[in-house]
Amino acid sequence: MSDSVLSPAQVRAAAERLPRVRLAHLPTPLEELPRFSAALGGKVRVFIKRDDCTGFVLGGNKARHNEFLFGDALADNCDVFVWGALVQSNNCRTTAAACAKLGIECRLYLSKAHLKTEPQGNLLIDYLVGARVEFRNEKIGPELNAVIAQKADELRAAGRRPYWWHPPRVVPLAAVSYVLCLAEIKEQLAALNVSPSALYVSSAGATGSGVALGRKVLGFECPARLICPMPWPWDIPTRTADDANSAAERLGIPHRLTASEIDADESYIAPGYGLPSPAGQEAMNLLARTEAILTDHVYTAKALGALIADVRAGKYAPGSSVVFIHTGGVPAIFAEPEKVVSGM
Ligand SMILES: Cc1ncc(COP(=O)(O)O)c(C=O)c1O
Repeated sequence: MSDSVLSPAQVRAAAERLPRVRLAHLPTPLEELPRFSAALGGKVRVFIKRDDCTGFVLGGNKARHNEFLFGDALADNCDVFVWGALVQSNNCRTTAAACAKLGIECRLYLSKAHLKTEPQGNLLIDYLVGARVEFRNEKIGPELNAVIAQKADELRAAGRRPYWWHPPRVVPLAAVSYVLCLAEIKEQLAALNVSPSALYVSSAGATGSGVALGRKVLGFECPARLICPMPWPWDIPTRTADDANSAAERLGIPHRLTASEIDADESYIAPGYGLPSPAGQEAMNLLARTEAILTDHVYTAKALGALIADVRAGKYAPGSSVVFIHTGGVPAIFAEPEKVVSGM
């Protein structure tokens, strides 16, 4: 196979080689946002890929990811998931729920930082689906990952078969699911006869790796703007390209990316990961009030804020179209309403 452009059907055929558990309602809709576009001046058409509607336990990008992670875990006869992130993690909520559905024990190690631990939002769902939750003081990233790896080791020593948050294994598989998402977008835009000028998504991880790879593999002739929700202690474009290349290996396709092909924008993180920004809050309010679509303050509102800033800066010619990939995350707003209503 050469590294020329693949059709959506060829991408789907490549993914057939990987074990998969169906969890999400796919394909998700691609919708136009006419009132939102009009509020931005009406010159640029804005479309939204409704991955907030993946269906599984309130939707979001992790429902797609988990189809491949649980495929991998079941192929390995796993009997316990060892996972972790922040208290209001969408990842943990969706993973705990998939464990419940598949009859696998779930142990969550949730980094507390300054966060509230009332059972609300994602944490409430973690409890409802029966996850065993332990709060931790380690920061997310390498510190918490070390705790998770150690817990997995202990379980293995006790004769269990753990599947754990081990980024080199799970991130490329999660990225594969977003190559498939781009295949859906490609077909949906073709049916509308629309060629996008840009794709936007909130990511500094697996989702962005898949979007960047899908952009190249499927021949999107536009940038894929990865709007980073958090900083990491590594170079995000380099890691994103590496994970995209590992995903391409898993898919058995020859396409490869370099860091210079990754459009990762860290300028929308301020005032910090998980903290609302004025631009994000404006985006959240505007989308809710023009289209009745909700976003969250941690991820999607900030990415939408970047789209708004680019449209207002005149980055796109009149008549052009941009696509916002909505990755979900809405349960967190119920846990932190004071962050969402500030500035209204
Ligand atoms: C709602 C939402 N959007 C985007 C992301 C970023 O996804 P990824 O970590 O795959 O880059 C996350 C990650 O937790 C998320 O919960």
